[in-house]
Formats: sequence, C-alpha cells, structure tokens
Amino acid sequence: MSAPRAEDKAEAETERLCDSEADTSSTVAKSETSESENVEAESSKSRKTKLSPDSDRPSREAKRRNIEEDVSSASANVPSDLTTSSSNEKDKDATNANRSLDNTTVVVEHYNALEEKGLGERNQSRIVYMRNFNNWIKSMLINEYIVKIRQGKSFGASLRVLDMCCGKGGDLFKWKKANISHLICADIAEVSLEQCQQRYNEIVNRTGSKDRGFAPIFSAEFITADCTKVRLREKFGDPSMQVDLVSCQFSFHYSFESLSQAECMLQNASETLKPGGYFIGTIPDTYDLVSRWQKTDGNKFGNDVYSVEFLCEDKIKPPLFGAKYNFYLDGVVNCPEFLVHLPTLRKLALKYGLEFVSFERFEEYFERFKDEGRSLLGNMQALETYPPYHETPLLGDPERDYHHAIEYMQNLPANHRKIGTLSQSEWEVTSLYAIFSFRKMKTIWNSEGKPEYVKS
Ligand SMILES: C[S@@+](CC[C@H](N)C(=O)[O-])C[C@H]1O[C@@H](n2cnc3c(N)ncnc32)[C@H](O)[C@@H]1O
Repeated sequence: MSAPRAEDKAEAETERLCDSEADTSSTVAKSETSESENVEAESSKSRKTKLSPDSDRPSREAKRRNIEEDVSSASANVPSDLTTSSSNEKDKDATNANRSLDNTTVVVEHYNALEEKGLGERNQSRIVYMRNFNNWIKSMLINEYIVKIRQGKSFGASLRVLDMCCGKGGDLFKWKKANISHLICADIAEVSLEQCQQRYNEIVNRTGSKDRGFAPIFSAEFITADCTKVRLREKFGDPSMQVDLVSCQFSFHYSFESLSQAECMLQNASETLKPGGYFIGTIPDTYDLVSRWQKTDGNKFGNDVYSVEFLCEDKIKPPLFGAKYNFYLDGVVNCPEFLVHLPTLRKLALKYGLEFVSFERFEEYFERFKDEGRSLLGNMQALETYPPYHETPLLGDPERDYHHAIEYMQNLPANHRKIGTLSQSEWEVTSLYAIFSFRKMKTIWNSEGKPEYVKS
C-alpha cells in the first residue's frame, strides 16, 4: 500500500479528536503517534497483526451450522405474514408501551449525559484501541459501500446519505472523506444531535477557510426523532428525497425491542433508499452473545472492561423481540439493548424490499480488509503495539491480556520485533460485533396498489 499522504494523516487525527461513543479519541501521546507510524512503516512482511487467541473464536463450521439451524427454527417461529397491523401485535405493543417508554428514556438520558464527559476523560479510556479499531471497521465498511455505489454512477454524481442514530457525529469525517453531497442525521438524543450539528458547523468553517475555491462540504440536516417510532421521511427538508446509502452504526439493536419498532426502523431505511442503494450497519452478534450467556451459570458475564447482564430468562429460546440485556462498557454504554435474531431480521428486511447482502463478524471483516486498510489502521491507532515501546505502557494487564500476542510472535522469525494487536479483554468485546448490509430492491406497485419488490 502507498504511504499515507500528509492530508490523510491530518484527517485521521481530526477524526480521532471528533469521534465519540463507539469511536476513537486521541489518548495516545504524540511520541507514540510516531512510534505507531514506525510500526506501520515496517515492511508488509514484518508488520503483523494478531488480535486474539484462536481458541476463543467459534469455528466457522460451528457457526455455519448454528446459522443453518437457526434459519430453519426461525422459519417456524417467525410468522409468515409479519404485518405490524395485526391486532395481536398491536395489543402486545400496547401492553409493552410503558416498558418501552422506560427503555427509551434510559437510552435518551444515557446518551444525552455522555456530553458531560469531556474529551480528556475519554482520552484516559482503557479501551481506546478497541474504540479506534471499531472506528476503523466503520471506516472500511462505509468506504466499501461508497465505492460500490459510485461504480454505478457517472463521475461527479451527487451522493446522499441517511445516518440513522448518528450520535454526536462520530462519522462526519467519514462522510466528508467519501465526498458525499448531502447528509441527513437522525438521533433520538437531542443533546447528542446538537453536538453533531456543532461539529458539522466546525467542519464547514474549517473546510471553508482551508479549501478556498474547492467544492463546499456536503450540506446536512438534523432530525431529533425516535427512528423506531417515527416516519423520518415526513421530517426531511425535502420529503421526496431518496438517498444512496443508509448507515446505522452500533444502534440497530435498539429497535429489536418489539416487532413494530424493528419494522419502523427498516421501513425508514427502505423507503429512504433508491433502488440499488444500501443499508449498512454494525450490531452485536446474537449467536455469540447467547453462546456466552449459555456458558454462564447466571445471567451475567464479562471481564474487566465489559459486562452483559441478561434481563430475560430463557437462555435456550430467547424471544425474537424484547430479549433484553444491559451492556456495560468501561463507562461508555450502559443501557438496555436487545438481541437481533438474524433470520428474523433477514425476513423482515425482505418484507421492506431490503435484500440481504452480508453479515460478517468483525474478526472476519478485519481479515478481509486488513491489507487494504493497513495504513488507516496505523493512522487511526486501531491496534496496540506489542511489545510496547518503553515509554508507552500497555493498557491491558501485561500478565493476562497478551498471551495470544506472545504465542503468535513465537512463530514469527526473530526479526519480527513488534506486532499490532488488541488486549484479550478488549478483543472479547469487539469480537462480539458484526457488520451487516442489505440492498434496496426495485419497487413495483401491484393491482391493489401495494408495493412489491423485485431485484433491480
Ligand atoms: C452507540 S451510539 C452510536 C452513535 C453513532 N452511530 C456512532 O457510531 O458513533 C448509539 C446511538 O443510537 C441512538 N439511539 C438509540 N435508540 C434510538 C432510537 N430509537 N432512535 C434514534 N436514535 C437512537 C443513541 O441516542 C445513540 O446516539
């Protein structure tokens, strides 16, 4: 790969400073920046990455088996007609309305309160590399789909994006880099959204003074709304607008509280997309979550940086919707989330004309993109250097958290002195996540005036 341009580095640095929840921060001292660059500058032969012990990974075969079993059991569980308007479902929703309000309030209060944490505090985070790594995954995912979309367009064509559950604007720089023309940001937490708008304004001002004479940064609009309950299209500046990409990062799982909420979120994505456009995102992998839960005696498991506490009882057959757990992550996220049953998601998405494209655990995604994204990994400081440079202590427990790195290095030739990795504790968190993508099908209207979807 070519060496990063100075501009790329500046961008990555700014991005680190600006990113929030699931994102990155500039905790690492300047001296380490250059060291990371040194590691990066090693030849591709000597630059190795090893994230976790293999023993921790569910084997691909086992996973495939799980998925197949799950698909068939899901077809039995999921009603073939998933209409929200069924009176049964409405009754259930009415019964759950108070509970849902409570969950929503907890989520909103939690994310709004995050603003009070200054950047300095985030920079002290024990999980900074994991946040940077997650941010790298998002960058690669967004780039992958922007490239796909651009392939079908003429040079210089406009490209519009909806960022559902955008938070404080952790992905604004990614959108700038992708050279999009318009961004719609939506989030339930009004304080987060205000901060997102502020960041956008700062980028506009900075870009205006720096890139005089060049095309202006994308235009943007900001919508405070519960994306699982409100029809977003009605709130757009131009309600007839269609976008090329809908992105929902680290958030879609909130919608699996109930069927109607999941449907609303999918409908928002689907009806905003052009045919051929993509819906992409990142969510916890339910198979992995449930498998860890099943291996635990009680309902709680985790390590020194994260814990998950299930608030539903049935470990063997959790409900398809409302399978609630609390996720605690080094003070970053601690509010109710819900299992996303993949076969159900696929089936529901299809109902809204969203054809399944991919679901890949972060581990697999990293393997697929680590060469292409090598310099960005370095720029974003998405991996910790092991063994550390003497003035940079390891963030994990040196006795416990790096066995996999030591083992990996034992099999490398003697001149391989440094590798990039994540501590075992961080890896146990990030390996829970997966990327997903769906493609919007073409809509045709049948004789009853109802939409039907065909491959475009
Ligand atoms: C983990 S943060 C991710 C933020 C951003 N997508 C990112 O990757 O940096 C989750 C976000 O989802 C938002 N959220 C949760 N439930 C929501 C809902 N029902 N409607 C809209 N936003 C929601 C929260 O307010 C929060 O900003």
